[in-house]
Amino acid sequence: MASMANTLEARPGAASTAARTGEVVLRTRQLTKRYGERLAVNHLDLEVYRGDIFGFLGPNGAGKTTTIRMALGLITPTSGSVEILGKEVATHRAQILPRVGALIEAPALYLYMSGRDNLRAVASVLGGVPDGRIDAVLELVGLQNRQKDRVRTYSLGMKQRLGVAMALLQDPDLLVLDEPANGLDPAGIVEMRDLMRQLSAAGKTVFISSHVLTEVRQICTRVAIMNLGKLVTETTIEDLVSNRGEFAVQVERGQEQQVLALLRAQPWGQSARFDSESGNLVTLAPNGRGRDLNLFLVQNGFAPETLAQQAQDLEQVFLQLTGTGEGGIQ
Ligand SMILES: Nc1ncnc2c1ncn2[C@@H]1O[C@H](COP(=O)(O)OP(=O)(O)OP(=O)(O)O)[C@@H](O)[C@H]1O
Ligand SMILES: [Mg+2]
Repeated sequence: MASMANTLEARPGAASTAARTGEVVLRTRQLTKRYGERLAVNHLDLEVYRGDIFGFLGPNGAGKTTTIRMALGLITPTSGSVEILGKEVATHRAQILPRVGALIEAPALYLYMSGRDNLRAVASVLGGVPDGRIDAVLELVGLQNRQKDRVRTYSLGMKQRLGVAMALLQDPDLLVLDEPANGLDPAGIVEMRDLMRQLSAAGKTVFISSHVLTEVRQICTRVAIMNLGKLVTETTIEDLVSNRGEFAVQVERGQEQQVLALLRAQPWGQSARFDSESGNLVTLAPNGRGRDLNLFLVQNGFAPETLAQQAQDLEQVFLQLTGTGEGGIQ
């Protein structure tokens, strides 16, 4: 077992570059789980690469926890398969699980015991955890100063970090965290984010589920967006943003509806909408270019007052992709 110093040696930039090295750490193939009539997970194909901080996103009920439970061999897929570190989970569970640390929803903690004793209890169940490892994980999650306090006195964020510490006891290659930021306040979310970055820099592959894009957008190298059991998209955050280059256009007052109808009649403009808050029309542009949009409007007799590339609101993109916001999938 590597010492803490080795394990946690900082490798700046690892998160952004390691994803390209090509080793698939987690792969699902046509993974499916059916509960009666309901397809909780529907023919899901995912690939998570070594060094990724992979964001697994989707609204409540999308199938995130069900996928994670299948990935960890806690429930059996209806069909399809999961491979972790090149081995089928269904047939190599005992071999794979020590290399995977997981936190599913809230951690199971003994509230009357100290953080350190909670870790000791888990370590003794797992077996084979070296003495120094408890100190190492406590330091890693920033709980060394509170390790002797009862968990009852911990904040929610501290409890979540203790849960992550438990998942790290066996120094896993892959860390799977189901909604680690759930219920945390902004400061807690920042702490969790810093911790994820640190883990990635230490060479871990991190798989995080969340129903809130803003919680993970700053740290994820890749994201998969799920809705109703299906994969909506799997991409990088940059792609998610750049493929959706919308423009905000202000036209002469009173002409908005006329212009909106014109835009919607164009093949590239079908997702155009009126944003009543700003008074702008929001639309994609022909060839994705602002000047072409401007030209189009001028040629049709609606010279815009202003035309500006939209700052991409990822939360809005997320809502649109999952069909839970106005507009639906474009
Ligand atoms: N044991 C079960 N029996 C029946 N239906 C289930 C079971 N577990 C999950 N489901 C259903 O499967 C779907 C996906 O649930 P899942 O918990 O995986 O979603 P999720 O993406 O984790 O949502 P959340 O963000 O709320 O945690 C839901 O419709 C849920 O009701
Ligand atoms: Mg869930």
